[in-house]
Amino acid sequence: MCLKFQMAPRYTNISILLFFFFLIISTALFFFFNSTRIVQPENEISLYTDSLSPTIVLEPIFSKSNHSNVAVAVAPTPILSTKSPTQLGGLEQPIPILLENNTSNETPKSDLDLYQNTTVLPITSQKLNSRSESCDLYKGSWVKDDEKQHPIYKPGNCPYVDEAFDCQTNGRPDAHYLNWRWKPHGCHLPRFSPTDFLEKLKGKRLMLVGDSMNRNQFESLLCLLREGLANKSKMYEIHGYKITKGRGYYVFKFEDYNCTVEFVRSHFLVREGVRINPQGNSNPTLSIDLIDKTANRWKGADILIFNTGHWWTHGKTARGKNYYKEGDRIYPKFDAIEAYRRALKTWAKWIDENMSREKLIIYRGYSTAHYRGGDWDSGGSCNKETEPVLKGAILGNYPLKMKIVEEVIKEMQVPVVLLNVTHLTNFRKDGHPSVYGKVGKKAKQDCSHWCLPGVPDAWNELIYATLVFQQ
Ligand SMILES: *[C@@H]1O[C@H](CO)[C@@H](O)[C@H](O)[C@H]1NC(C)=O
Ligand SMILES: *[C@@H]1O[C@H](CO)[C@@H](O)[C@H](O)[C@H]1NC(C)=O
Ligand SMILES: *[C@@H]1O[C@H](CO)[C@@H](O)[C@H](O)[C@H]1NC(C)=O
Ligand SMILES: *[C@@H]1O[C@H](CO)[C@@H](O)[C@H](O)[C@H]1NC(C)=O
Ligand SMILES: *[C@@H]1O[C@H](CO)[C@@H](O)[C@H](O)[C@H]1NC(C)=O
Ligand SMILES: *[C@@H]1O[C@H](CO)[C@@H](O)[C@H](O)[C@H]1NC(C)=O
Ligand SMILES: *[C@@H]1O[C@H](CO)[C@@H](O)[C@H](O)[C@H]1NC(C)=O
Ligand SMILES: *[C@@H]1O[C@H](CO)[C@@H](O)[C@H](O)[C@H]1NC(C)=O
Repeated sequence: MCLKFQMAPRYTNISILLFFFFLIISTALFFFFNSTRIVQPENEISLYTDSLSPTIVLEPIFSKSNHSNVAVAVAPTPILSTKSPTQLGGLEQPIPILLENNTSNETPKSDLDLYQNTTVLPITSQKLNSRSESCDLYKGSWVKDDEKQHPIYKPGNCPYVDEAFDCQTNGRPDAHYLNWRWKPHGCHLPRFSPTDFLEKLKGKRLMLVGDSMNRNQFESLLCLLREGLANKSKMYEIHGYKITKGRGYYVFKFEDYNCTVEFVRSHFLVREGVRINPQGNSNPTLSIDLIDKTANRWKGADILIFNTGHWWTHGKTARGKNYYKEGDRIYPKFDAIEAYRRALKTWAKWIDENMSREKLIIYRGYSTAHYRGGDWDSGGSCNKETEPVLKGAILGNYPLKMKIVEEVIKEMQVPVVLLNVTHLTNFRKDGHPSVYGKVGKKAKQDCSHWCLPGVPDAWNELIYATLVFQQ
């Protein structure tokens, strides 16, 4: 979290005055320079936070809601407001990063000139092993794929992309966002080879465990691996299920490789429950000291990819009233950060006791959401975003939850690979379904999940790189 200006509530009046002062100045400057200036909105983002930190909203002008812990921020230009989502309308919405409204009618400057001098070397996969030590695969930038290797599968062509992520089929007009590839500084990712990936999975079970962001990644992986099959009917869901958000367990078998790629839904990794209150109503609870019931399923897998985070921003999770439970005790009020830490420790303990070192355990880092001009529940949008963010404070955003993940993983006996994708997702404000999550009609703005093909393909390429470099 980075708070440039933070003031205690008693300074609110002064801050409002200052705010108006700066607003007037900046409005005047805006009209003065309007005709010539190219504004890159992301440069103006100077404040960001995550849901487990105090809410930051601009008071009193842009905020309609009341929050208990409001920090008042003052800055020369209108800055973003970030607050925790309170309730989700069936959609699983991660912590948003709010983008500043445009102050100009001109579109942000193209990134092409930034990258025009970048030489894209031919990527000759396995030779790179030796360089992996010195190279952080997660530090880098998105570059135009001049070799036309991306997207790895054609949009609208993979039957495992469910409607919510099938942006091109749903009518998204721009396709620019499909042609980027992740380029680590100082090394190249091995060229993605679906057949080699499948060879590495031979006789194994790979399982993704988590929320709908993991399902997003799961669908991406199915589509990527499918590209390696000459006969596409040689992969199938063993129960015959079609992927929808309703179901919590899928097993895809790749016949010729005797391997499976599976998805187990587990929003928190720890156990959800209900409590009947004295009035006879049932309320949800979360036992942060008990592993999720689906853990029985995790045991048989050889490669596991976990994540939790996005559901920790819901009203009940963030408020923490009569919700968190340890033993028989329901806490009347409990801090969400501490709850998250304890839940992850419960998960870590389970892994240490129930998993052997032969397994590959991966924790996929937090995936960034991008909303402009409002929050996910207050008119925020991303449907006009056609270019990645190229610079600005937003790129440095590393949520507190991720720091907790790192702390917990460090203490574990069984090694866990951190798929540290947070930074690379910060760039990709152009990668979300926005209003193109439905065929035919406009869907609600979804600036949290990702279009497929798209950003989760890069996460899976990084898993492939991990498998290649591991040898
Ligand atoms: C905010 O709180 C004040 C006083 O607690 C109340 O009068 C007002 O109606 C609240 N506003 C909203 C939008 O809830
Ligand atoms: C941002 O600028 C674009 C480009 O001119 C414009 O089409 C769009 O309406 C603007 N969005 C907002 C929220 O002002
Ligand atoms: C690209 O290279 C040219 C010539 O070497 C140089 O003048 C220019 O500044 C470079 N552009 C960038 C964005 O680095
Ligand atoms: C397929 O893989 C399983 C392990 O997942 C193994 O037990 C089984 O023997 C394998 N079958 C064949 C035909 O290789
Ligand atoms: C593809 O696989 C299916 C299922 O195993 C089989 O029925 C079909 O004959 C195969 N097609 C070709 C062209 O080999
Ligand atoms: C290991 O798994 C078993 C069965 O799921 C469970 O009873 C046990 O508590 C687990 N260990 C830990 C530390 O959670
Ligand atoms: C941002 O843009 C939206 C729609 O264009 C507008 O309703 C809202 O008031 C703007 N917010 C700010 C902070 O300028
Ligand atoms: C993960 O990436 C962030 C930057 O996005 C960095 O600050 C952090 O140190 C990285 N973690 C590890 C374990 O490399």
